[in-house]
Amino acid sequence: MVKICCIGAGYVGGPTMAVIALNCPSIEVVVVDISVTRISAWNSDQLPIYEPGLNEVVKQCKGRNLFFSTDLEKHVSEADIIFVSVNTPTKTRGLGAGKAADLTYWESAARMIADVSKSNKIVVEKSTVPVKTAEAIERILTHNSKGIKYQILSNPEFLAEGTAIQDLFKPDRVLIGGRETPDGLKAIQALKDVYAHWVPEDRIITTNLWSAELSKLAANAFLAQRISSVNAMSALCEATGADVSQVSHAVGKDSRIGPKFLNASVGFGGSCFQKDILNLVYICECNGLAEVANYWKQVIKVNDYQKNRFVNRVVSSMFNTVSGKKIGIMGFAFKKDTGDTRETPAIDVCKGLLGDKARLSIYDPQVTADQIQRDLTMNKFDWDHPIHLQPMSPTGVKQVSIAWDAYEASKDAHALCILTEWDEFKTLDYRRIFDNMQKPAFVFDGRNVVNVEMLRDIGFIVYSIGKPLDPWLKNMPAVA
Ligand code: NAD
Ligand code: UGA
Repeated sequence: MVKICCIGAGYVGGPTMAVIALNCPSIEVVVVDISVTRISAWNSDQLPIYEPGLNEVVKQCKGRNLFFSTDLEKHVSEADIIFVSVNTPTKTRGLGAGKAADLTYWESAARMIADVSKSNKIVVEKSTVPVKTAEAIERILTHNSKGIKYQILSNPEFLAEGTAIQDLFKPDRVLIGGRETPDGLKAIQALKDVYAHWVPEDRIITTNLWSAELSKLAANAFLAQRISSVNAMSALCEATGADVSQVSHAVGKDSRIGPKFLNASVGFGGSCFQKDILNLVYICECNGLAEVANYWKQVIKVNDYQKNRFVNRVVSSMFNTVSGKKIGIMGFAFKKDTGDTRETPAIDVCKGLLGDKARLSIYDPQVTADQIQRDLTMNKFDWDHPIHLQPMSPTGVKQVSIAWDAYEASKDAHALCILTEWDEFKTLDYRRIFDNMQKPAFVFDGRNVVNVEMLRDIGFIVYSIGKPLDPWLKNMPAVA
């Protein structure tokens, strides 16, 4: 029986291994982690992450050929194929601080593999890593090898949160990079054989190691760039009276451009887009490619601009002050169908409003009160460390309360800010909400989910990203 061990039981390691286990009953899959609480949660009925369809998949194979354990050494030493899916945060200190990937967790996983291995291993990079990481890992392993042979493969993950299970079941492509040597090709084939249990062969792409590593960073940079492009257009739409949804639709009809990923928003979030672009920028700079680095930096700058622009729009619309005013925040996760808040635009928007002394009542159907308070007090980039190594926030933010539902969050509020596109926000009883709010009552829709005309008919002053402005807002330019 082939044995797989995955180091890192997070958003990638957990779902990916569950789908492998379900589709490959003849393979034993063990997911290990240094976080005892994470592993206990995987072993309970309350999984540590919310992902539609995940529960059902895990239920079918947990205890059969899918196991979760904190005994890293045992399972790593027994495995034939080891996936490494640990955190790769942005460095906050030293060389490359603020841009380069911090490979501390990766390196410690590699050293542990070298320490405990007694047989040949295929080591698979699942984490997103800088180009040439495989070379560094190879060096660590071979310098400590005791005669054991290692093959390093790059197999970056392309799943998106909220749709992870369907992405894993029907991936657009599976990418495997490896050495172009006989042993390298054999290792590539072994991993291909795993995916071939359910992924059609023509969707499994093989490349050299460096192309695979770089393709992952490039794919995320291209996706984020589309969002920044449409968000830049949204500012121009507001200035000219064009409607960004109509522009996106017209542009996306060109089959060379395509319709996906053209939704204007308050800004992209998530654990990877910003981190991976910063990483790409750093690699370009290290290779003397300043123009290329600056080009990609601009994608992040536009994203920051969009978040600032939103905050400024809120404050300037409300007579240039939100001091002491209650604002209902609808949604805190970085997108719908996930409880993940890593780099969510809601953090920057809330901090911006708190900076102007607003009082916030925050509602999200999947994010806990504790998580929201931690996010609002944590330093930039600290979130991307294993949970038990994150600094604890001593106290919560006083001007922030957490609401059980949208109605409680909006009661007596002067304004609502929609920051996540949860489906339930489309069908709220906005008449009831309006009746319970202070007047004038504002809705700032950062996700373009509400029916603007209907809300204006009720009496709201509505701002929707990239849409023709409410007459109230016309003479109030939101300068970022
Ligand atoms: P995560 O924080 O959810 O999970 C990482 C896990 O690794 C944590 O549970 C942590 O405790 C564990 N860990 C860290 N060091 C360890 C060690 N030495 N030994 C054992 N366990 C260790 O992160 P994630 O979202 O799963 O991301 C993992 C990697 O995958 C990152 O490089 C990320 O960039 C990449 N990625 C993430 C996504 C996504 O949607 N989240 C998608 C594609 C790629
Ligand atoms: C993204 C990529 O889509 C995945 O392919 C990749 O594997 C993953 O990053 C990763 O490497 O971590 P994810 O961040 O989970 O996945 O979610 P996305 O659907 O890409 O959304 C990212 C952010 O962009 C969200 O805040 C979302 O609301 C925003 N977005 C997305 C827009 O503002 N407009 C759009 O049109 C699409």
